[in-house]
Amino acid sequence: MSTNLKTNAAPKPWTPVALAGLKGQRRLTCLSVHDHLTARLVDEAGIDIALVGDSLGMTVLGFPNTLPVSMADMLRHTAAVARACQTALVVADMPFMSYQVSVAQGLRNAGRFLSQAGASMVKIEGGAGRVELISALTANGIPVMGHIGLTPQSIAALGRYRVQGRTAPEAEQLLADARAVTAAGASLLVIECVPAPLARAITAAVSCPTIGIGAGPDCDGQVLVLADLLGLTPDPAPRFVRRYADFRTQAQRALAAYKADVASGAYPAEDESYA
Ligand code: KIV
Repeated sequence: MSTNLKTNAAPKPWTPVALAGLKGQRRLTCLSVHDHLTARLVDEAGIDIALVGDSLGMTVLGFPNTLPVSMADMLRHTAAVARACQTALVVADMPFMSYQVSVAQGLRNAGRFLSQAGASMVKIEGGAGRVELISALTANGIPVMGHIGLTPQSIAALGRYRVQGRTAPEAEQLLADARAVTAAGASLLVIECVPAPLARAITAAVSCPTIGIGAGPDCDGQVLVLADLLGLTPDPAPRFVRRYADFRTQAQRALAAYKADVASGAYPAEDESYA
């Protein structure tokens, strides 16, 4: 997709290369979105990146964490989001155990997101240990979004979700991870739940845009889970979540009103019925 040179209009849809080129020019917007209906809203709002995150496991499928999310789940929901997006870059999150077994397994599964689900990029959790896979993916034409810091697919090892990189050795490791992942070819990098000064240092150290979540204001872009932003998920939310709406309360009120109207006979009215 080429840039319109006359108007300098944005390429449509966004490509990983075009978005990566915006580092230092403007902040990138990204939302984690899981279904067609809300992906349309995200795309129409001009959000740059529609990430089909494996937070799907909690928000849509009712699991306690991301570990049970399958390739079939992710392919289905990525395709639903991709059908809604005209301009947003669609990124598919590779689920737990879809890439950890071997580079060949990761390549095969990542390719399915592009060939079968309409994604333009895949996201992979992990640092220096993912270098071989990221190199293989990018060498085979599959753009990669890295993900370092708090990596929720490691919950069994971590024990609980907590801020990463608070100690000097941890911070150094994360900086090394960021460098390794981007040197291997990742063209966008999610940094989750790290202290703001460390995220700032990582952002300055790598050539690709960083997308922060719980990583302070100095990343090249921000991502939130759409259901958190809209106030659909129950409280308490993590500290970094800002609620831009309270749809949960609104939905509760609407459902109570519907229930009362049906019980009283106020719904449906004559003009809501067929003669
Ligand atoms: O699964 C997800 O939604 C994510 C983002 C929050 C980065 O990984």
